[in-house]
Amino acid sequence: MSKTVLIAGASRGIGLEFAVQYAAEDWHVIAGCRAPEQAKGWAPANVDLQTLDVTDVNSVAALSWHFDDAPLDLLIVNAGVFGPDTGSFAAPGDDTFDAVMHTNVLGPMRLIQAFGSCVARAGGVIAVMSSKMGSITETSGTDALAYRCSKAAANMLVKVAANELGPQGATVISLHPGWVRTDMGGPNAAISVSESVEGLRKVIDDLSADDNGCFLDYTGRKLSW
Ligand SMILES: NC(=O)c1ccc[n+]([C@@H]2O[C@H](COP(=O)([O-])OP(=O)(O)OC[C@H]3O[C@@H](n4cnc5c(N)ncnc54)[C@H](OP(=O)(O)O)[C@@H]3O)[C@@H](O)[C@H]2O)c1
Repeated sequence: MSKTVLIAGASRGIGLEFAVQYAAEDWHVIAGCRAPEQAKGWAPANVDLQTLDVTDVNSVAALSWHFDDAPLDLLIVNAGVFGPDTGSFAAPGDDTFDAVMHTNVLGPMRLIQAFGSCVARAGGVIAVMSSKMGSITETSGTDALAYRCSKAAANMLVKVAANELGPQGATVISLHPGWVRTDMGGPNAAISVSESVEGLRKVIDDLSADDNGCFLDYTGRKLSW
């Protein structure tokens, strides 16, 4: 039987590439997008496009009801926003703070709460798309304050979710995809989206239960929190 992956935030960039690559290997791909009708142009025929706005509690609940507690081999919590980058230390405005934290932190919390038991029952993986910019140890810059704080918070979420769901059978990890040429990463980023996702898929494939609660980059290197 084919494996099932739910990708939250699959309309473009890294999430879209995950959908394309897993669909090519005959996974049952559920692609959660804010505007699924716009994704019809790119989606391979075997991708199940579903409406999902991770900032909307009703949207997450609706997808979870649709899913009806079916076992889930892989949940990729990918949706993310960067917010305006001031380039130097600056507190964000209320709207920026809310948008970044709701998308990058509260959304992932709700997704893991809604689908965690489906993943645990399948002995599956929850992969949260974090960033090296959320590593407190590795931070030397002063820019992107809201984004950095949101990814550090997402890392804490991974640890707590790993403690909760690991004993139930899930493996919960934080991932850094590299600096990737997407709308977010920009045209000068270091690697292509296919290189990033090929690496991330290998990392996910090679996981064992001992990796529960780890922070890994797309090459499999362990990152410090
Ligand atoms: N690119 C990099 O260099 C890099 C580096 C480190 C970490 N990351 C992380 O990797 C993830 C993907 O990044 P990317 O580079 O692919 O970004 P991207 O090209 O900007 O794409 C972001 C994706 O997230 C979706 N999204 C945003 N808000 C959403 C919401 N409320 N509900 C559902 N989907 C939502 C977008 O959907 P719409 O089309 O509807 O906006 C889009 O599919 C992010 O979490 C990002 O922080 C990226």
